[in-house]
Amino acid sequence: MSRLVVVSNRVALPEETRAGGLAVALTAALAEQGGLWFGWSGRIGELAHEVHELEHGGICYATVDLTRAEHAGYYAGFANRVLWPMLHNRPDLIDFDAADYHTYRAVNRRWAEALAQRLHADDVVWVHDYHLIPLAAELRARGCGQRIGFFLHTGLAPAELLRYMPRHRELLATLADYDVVGVQTPRDLTALRDYFRGTLGAHAAQHANMILANGRRVHLDAYPIGIDVDAVRAGALPRRGGTTSLRRLRASLEDRALIIGVDRLDYSKGLPQRLTSFGHLLEQFPQWRRRVSLLQIAPASRGDVPEYRAIRRDLERIAGHINGRYAEPDWTPIRYVSRAFPQSALCGYYRAARVGLVTPLRDGMNLVAMEYLASQDSEDPGVLVLSEFAGAAQQLDAALCVNPLDHEATASAMNQALAMPLDERVARWRDAMHVIAQSDIHHWRKHFLGALRDFSHRR
Ligand code: G6P
Repeated sequence: MSRLVVVSNRVALPEETRAGGLAVALTAALAEQGGLWFGWSGRIGELAHEVHELEHGGICYATVDLTRAEHAGYYAGFANRVLWPMLHNRPDLIDFDAADYHTYRAVNRRWAEALAQRLHADDVVWVHDYHLIPLAAELRARGCGQRIGFFLHTGLAPAELLRYMPRHRELLATLADYDVVGVQTPRDLTALRDYFRGTLGAHAAQHANMILANGRRVHLDAYPIGIDVDAVRAGALPRRGGTTSLRRLRASLEDRALIIGVDRLDYSKGLPQRLTSFGHLLEQFPQWRRRVSLLQIAPASRGDVPEYRAIRRDLERIAGHINGRYAEPDWTPIRYVSRAFPQSALCGYYRAARVGLVTPLRDGMNLVAMEYLASQDSEDPGVLVLSEFAGAAQQLDAALCVNPLDHEATASAMNQALAMPLDERVARWRDAMHVIAQSDIHHWRKHFLGALRDFSHRR
């Protein structure tokens, strides 16, 4: 079988212990027949042109540093101040700088140069996420005829919003150099097809998901990502005596219910709206005062991007305001923790929580929603309150779906979840787990790689 080459901005190097489900699934795919993982080393250096190579478990990890200027222009600049807000329906937050765009293109060119030298003729190349949109075009320009697929982990904005992004045409046209372009949900697929046809003048070829653009056939499809269900369930299983931190959490709750939210601190996650809705819960349903606590874990992210520093300040202000208003000497309504935890610890916290609160304003899929459910005790499961704007909502009908901008309705959903009788909780949980187990992370990678391997070249 042909070798697999994965390319992504972040590389889960073997010494990293915090690898989540995605890293585990990609490592498994690479280990199956030997493979190469190429991307950023995570380091910033002034001499960034050396490729660091490391062999481990049959996988070659090849990573490159970024110079300070590349990190600022490619990663903090174009990827996270233009592409990220655009993909999350926030053209108002786009801060376009032509120099950043050129740096983004230059980093993709440099990576393609380094990668092209390492590719074998029958390799299958799988490129991940918005940092690397033009990578296939750069590889093709260097004569690489391998099968190359692209998967977008975020959601995709509707075509009319994509057009707000300066240079969208020249950048997004490079997607036609992939053989397969995958997105998370049918809604994202509609946006992608609309954009290809309406803006890039692509035509349908053979069937609805095959289009002809720039003289190339490209297969577009939705490949909804999932979680490693067995690993999450194993991580959540109560251990004898429990871990110290979980025991302390349970003891600190006394007999109160716990609502949990776990998100990277990002404006797309709807965190200020979520805390405000929790404030509404305490106001509209005073019976929950003293009887419920919200644990919001929100590790800081992308601290060199101004919008991220602003959201952090907002969140601290709102949490302080709600706690100041409702707290009692022996009860704090919101426990706000801006630190990351290993997944094994999170699974235990999820299981301890009566309600999982996943209310992004926009999210490609949202694996926390699935991890929360998979961590539950099947005989006494908690309830998921889920934003209709997370990709996961297109699969998890059994969750209580909300519009996160409607604080009253979100507060009512929290109240409904907290008060839900056991038989309804069990029925909803079983329905959701059926879906989650069917489309887990292993299914996702086989589904995508199957499509890419089957792709018959036009050559
Ligand atoms: C999202 C993106 C990933 C990214 C992750 C963490 O999930 O889709 O590509 O790696 O956020 O963000 P960071 O900027 O820290 O890599």
